[in-house]
Amino acid sequence: MNRPPAHIPLERYDPGMPAEEAAGRFYDIMRRRRTVRMFADRPVSEETIRRVLLAAGTAPSGANKQPWRFVAVRDPEIKRRIRLAAEEEEREFYTRRAPPEWLEDLAPLGTDEHKEFLEIAPWLIVVFKLMKTDEGGQVYYVNESVGIATGMLLAAAHHAGLATLTHTPSPMGFLSEVLGRPAHERPFLLIPVGYPAADCVVPDIGRKGEGEIVVWA
Ligand SMILES: Cc1cc2nc3c(=O)[nH]c(=O)nc-3n(C[C@H](O)[C@H](O)[C@H](O)COP(=O)(O)O)c2cc1C
Repeated sequence: MNRPPAHIPLERYDPGMPAEEAAGRFYDIMRRRRTVRMFADRPVSEETIRRVLLAAGTAPSGANKQPWRFVAVRDPEIKRRIRLAAEEEEREFYTRRAPPEWLEDLAPLGTDEHKEFLEIAPWLIVVFKLMKTDEGGQVYYVNESVGIATGMLLAAAHHAGLATLTHTPSPMGFLSEVLGRPAHERPFLLIPVGYPAADCVVPDIGRKGEGEIVVWA
């Protein structure tokens, strides 16, 4: 018979200031996160990336299955193979596969099939979702769980002063091949991480205001 797990006292986190102030400070950090497509080649230590990934791994998940795997790539040869494969898929996407409305929505971002950042950024973090546990068991709410973990990864990188790009070359199957990942792992997102280039610019786009995203009931 299944015994319920033992329970332990909660290790509390105290921000050391009123919640309102802590929430304001965090928002002030997060509002400056932008998707960056122009990276510097300045190195980022392995320990920094490890801490960012460990933070991502603290995410909640359906039935605590933690259905994610983060592959941290810094090998220039692997980065090159990823770039070449991504550019091939993206060329297809921009010239053939993308419906006109999608291309229209992308136009203000100025994105195209050229992905030199995949070689310039010192790290590429490839997020995989686990469709089964490593032991072949069931997983639950995989997209929600891995989405939350990825959000925490982006926040942790930004908090450390690093820039990220959530990249979704479509389709992403080549990542499994290049990285030699097993079949129960599916590529979820490709995230270049590094410092922004000195001359980095970002699209002049806005965010919805409180009135559009929040409903008080
Ligand atoms: C799931 C997802 C997929 C995305 N895919 C791409 C992508 O393939 N290429 C790209 O340049 N940006 C991509 N983005 C970045 C968005 O374009 C960007 O988040 C959006 O324009 C808002 O800009 P901001 O992140 O600077 O606030 C993606 C973002 C998300 C959340």
